[in-house]
Amino acid sequence: MESLEPTVSVVPQENEEKRDEPAENEVTVNPDPNAPITRRGLLMSFLTGKTMEIPENDTLGRCRFVSEFEKLNRIGEGTYGIVYRARDSKTGEIVALKKVRMEHEQDGFPVSGLREISILLSCEHENIVQLIEVVVGKSLESIFLVMEYCEQDLASLLDNMQQPFTESQVKCIMIQVLKGLEYLHKRYIIHRDLKVSNLLMTDKGCVKIADFGLARTFSVPPENMTSRVVTLWYRAPEILFGSKTHTTAIDMWAVGCILGELLCHRPLLPGRTEVHQIELIIDLLGTPSKDIWPEFSSLPLLQNFTLKKQPYNKIKSKFPWLTVAGLRLLNFLFMYDPVKRATAEECLKSTYFKEAPMPCEPQLMPTFPQHRNLKMGAKIDNITLGGSNPPPPAPSIGKAEGLSETIPDPVSELVSTSFQGYVFR
Ligand SMILES: Nc1ncnc2c1ncn2[C@@H]1O[C@H](COP(=O)(O)OP(=O)(O)OP(=O)(O)O)[C@@H](O)[C@H]1O
Ligand SMILES: [Mg+2]
Repeated sequence: MESLEPTVSVVPQENEEKRDEPAENEVTVNPDPNAPITRRGLLMSFLTGKTMEIPENDTLGRCRFVSEFEKLNRIGEGTYGIVYRARDSKTGEIVALKKVRMEHEQDGFPVSGLREISILLSCEHENIVQLIEVVVGKSLESIFLVMEYCEQDLASLLDNMQQPFTESQVKCIMIQVLKGLEYLHKRYIIHRDLKVSNLLMTDKGCVKIADFGLARTFSVPPENMTSRVVTLWYRAPEILFGSKTHTTAIDMWAVGCILGELLCHRPLLPGRTEVHQIELIIDLLGTPSKDIWPEFSSLPLLQNFTLKKQPYNKIKSKFPWLTVAGLRLLNFLFMYDPVKRATAEECLKSTYFKEAPMPCEPQLMPTFPQHRNLKMGAKIDNITLGGSNPPPPAPSIGKAEGLSETIPDPVSELVSTSFQGYVFR
C-alpha cells in the first residue's frame, strides 16, 4: 500500500453488504446512506486527495471474519453484550462469542469493551476465562470476543439445580474463585463485578471468572474511580457510601456474598435499592462506626442515609451449622473496613478449606444439564440430561485435626464470641 499517506476518511461504498452477525443470519443489503461506515470503502489521501479502494485482504485487518463461526444459540445477554454459543467452522471448536455492545456510542469503541479485551489478553490462568481472539463483522461496529466455552454459569445453575451444592463442592468452587482473584489482584486488576452470573464452570468442574467489562487496573496509591460499579447485591459498603477509591477489597466483599449465597442456596443480601441494601447489611453485621472503620465518618454519601442501630453480628445465627473456621472466614470477608478485609491470598490459607468436609476435586464435580441451551430451544449436543448423572459420592474426608496448628489461619485471631465489637447472636 505504498501510496497510503495519512488518510482523512473512509468513504462508504453504496449498497454495501452489512453482515455483522454470525453465519446463521441472512446477508442483508444496507441501502441507508447514513448507515454506519463499513470497512469496505475508499481511503482518501491527506496529501493528494486521491482515493483508493481498500484491498480486500486489508479490509478486516488481522482479525478473522465472524462468518467463519456458526451461531448455535444465544446463551446470555447482559448490560454490555450478547453472548452466543458458536462453532468455529475452521477447527470445529465450540466457543462463546460475545458481541461488544455499541449502542449510543458517541466516542468510538466503548471503554468497557476495550478494558475487557486488554485485560483478558493480559491474563493467562485456569480460573480466568480465556479470550481466544477478537473477530469482526463488516460493519465497524461489530466486534466479537471469541472465548473458551464454559458449559455453565453459576447463576443459571443455581436457579435450575435439583439439589444444592454440598459444602465440599462449595469449597471447591470458592478455592478456584479465590485462586483466580489472587492472580488478578497480584496483577493490579480489580474485577468490580463479581457475582454468580459472572462465574462460569466447565463440565470438568473448572470454575472461571468472566465478564471483565467493569474491570480496571489500579495503582498505588489508588486514584479516583466511578462509584457505579458492582451489582447491588454484591456491592461493598464503601461503594454504597460513595468512596471514590476502589481497592481489591471490593472484590473480596463480593466473594463473601457469593460464599454466603452458595452456602444458604439463595442470595445473601438481595437489596432492592441502595437504601435497602445498606439495611440488609446492617441487619446481618451490625451498624458500622468510626471505631471499627476509621474512614467511615468521612465517606461522601454517609449523610444521605439514616442508619438503624443494630448491635449484633448475626452471621452465626444465619449459618448455625457452619464451623468456627467457616464463620471466621465469612466474618473476615465482611469486615466493614476495607483495609482490614481478608485478601484472596489470606482466604486460601483459611482452615475452613483444610477441614472436613474437605473440598472436592474439580474433576469430581457433577455435570449438569445445560439449561441455557435448553431454554433457548437450541440444537443441543453432548448434554447429560437431569437425573441420569447423580453427584458422585463425596470424596473421603481427611481428618483435619492438627492442620490449624501447622497451617496458620490468618483469621484465627478473631475471637469467636464477638466480631468488630458486636456480640454474635
Ligand atoms: N465464555 C463463556 N462461556 C459460556 N457462557 C458464557 C461465556 N461468557 C459469557 N457467557 C454467558 O453469557 C452471560 C453474559 O456474559 P457476560 O457476563 O460476559 O456479559 P455482560 O453483558 O457483561 O453481562 P452482565 O452485564 O449481565 O453481567 C454470562 O452470564 C454467561 O451465562
Ligand atoms: Mg455478566
